[in-house]
Amino acid sequence: MSKNYLLIKAIRKEKIDRIPVWIMRQAGRYLKEYNQVRQNYDFMEMCKTPEAIVEVSVQPVNIIGVDAGIIFSDILVPVEAMGVKVTFEKNHGPKLDYKIKDLKDVENLKIPNPTIDMKFIGDSIKMFKQKLPKDKPLIGFSGAPWTLSSYILEGGSSKNFTKIKSFMFNKEKIFLLLMEKITETIIKHLIYQIESGADIIQIFDTWAGVLAPNDYEKYAFYYQKKIISSIKSKYDIPIILYINGSGNILEKMVETGADALSIDWMTDLAYAKSKVGDKVSLQGNMDPCYLYGNREFVKNKVIETINKFGKETGYIFNLGHGILPDIPVENVKTMVETVKKY
Ligand code: CP3
Repeated sequence: MSKNYLLIKAIRKEKIDRIPVWIMRQAGRYLKEYNQVRQNYDFMEMCKTPEAIVEVSVQPVNIIGVDAGIIFSDILVPVEAMGVKVTFEKNHGPKLDYKIKDLKDVENLKIPNPTIDMKFIGDSIKMFKQKLPKDKPLIGFSGAPWTLSSYILEGGSSKNFTKIKSFMFNKEKIFLLLMEKITETIIKHLIYQIESGADIIQIFDTWAGVLAPNDYEKYAFYYQKKIISSIKSKYDIPIILYINGSGNILEKMVETGADALSIDWMTDLAYAKSKVGDKVSLQGNMDPCYLYGNREFVKNKVIETINKFGKETGYIFNLGHGILPDIPVENVKTMVETVKKY
C-alpha cells in the first residue's frame, strides 16, 4: 500500500521534486499501438476483454512516460450493465437505446453487482497493477449521474441537452429515481475498483457545466457529493472531480469533498486557484488543441500553463479535456518531457 506516489503526494500537497503529469484519454487513438489492438475488437467488446484493456492501458505509460496509469474502459460500461444497450459505430460517438417513458422503465433498470456483472474490470485492474511500474499509481474512474443520465436520455452525445433538460423539468420524479439508481451503481462500481487495486479515483461529470448554478446544485452536485462521501466513509483514497466548463461553480465543487478539481482550459488556472484556495488541489488545464502546434509552441504553452498555477505543490499537469485522436505523438512526448523538466 505505497502512498508515496508522486501524484498522490501532489494531491495531498506534500513536498514534491517535480510536477506529476498524466493525460485524460491517454489510452487512445493518437497512439498507433492502440489502433492496432482496437482494430481487432468492437469498442464495447474491447472494454470487456482484460488482455486488451491491460495492453492499451500500459501503452501510454511506456511510450509517453506519464506518471500514472488509468484503466482503459468507458463511463458507459456500468450503464450497459444496468440494462441499457450501448453501441459505438465507427468514427461516431456512443449510441444508447433505452426509452424511458414512465417510472416502470426506470424500475426495470438493474443495479449491477460489479463483482459478477463487471468482473472484467476487477480482473483488468489486478492484471494492470502487475504490469505498471511500482512507482506509478493506478487511476480508476467513473462517470457521474448527471452526465450518464444525459447519455441515456439523449440517446448519445448532445449539443444543447434539450431532451434531458425537458425530461428533468417535466418528469422530475422519474428523473430522480434514475439518478438514485445510477448513483448506487456508481458507488458499487468505484468501490469494486478500489478493492481491486485502484489508488486514485477520477469522477467525470463532463457535462454538468451546462446546468444553471441552482440546477447544478440540485441535479449534479448532490449526487457527486453522495458518491464521494460514500467512498470516503470506507476508504481514504484521493478523489479527483472533472467538469467541463466549471469556472463558475468551483467553490461549490469544493463542497463535494473531492481532493482535487480537474479544470478545463476555458478557466484561468490562477483564477481557479484564487477561488478554491488551500481547500483542494488542482489538475489541468492545457487546451488539447495546443498539441496541434509545433514543438516549440507546445513547450511554451506547457510552461505558460504551469506558470499560472505557480511553484507550489498541490498541482497535477493534465489537459483541460481528453486528448484528441489526430494529435502527433511527438508533441505529446514533448509536453510530458517539458512538464518533467520544469
Ligand atoms: O483516459 C483513459 O485513457 C481511460 C479511458 C477512457 C475512455 N473514455 C476511453 C475511450 C475514459 C476515462 C473515458 C471517459 C469518457 N467516455 C467520458 C468522460 C471524459 C470526457 O472525455 O468527457 C465520456 C463523456 C465518455 C463517452 C465516450 N466514449 C464518448 C463521447 C466517446 C466517443 C468520442 C470520441 O472521441 O470518438 C467515447 C469513446 C472512447 N472512450 C474512446 C476511447 C479511447 C475512443 C473510441 C475508439 O477507440 O474508437
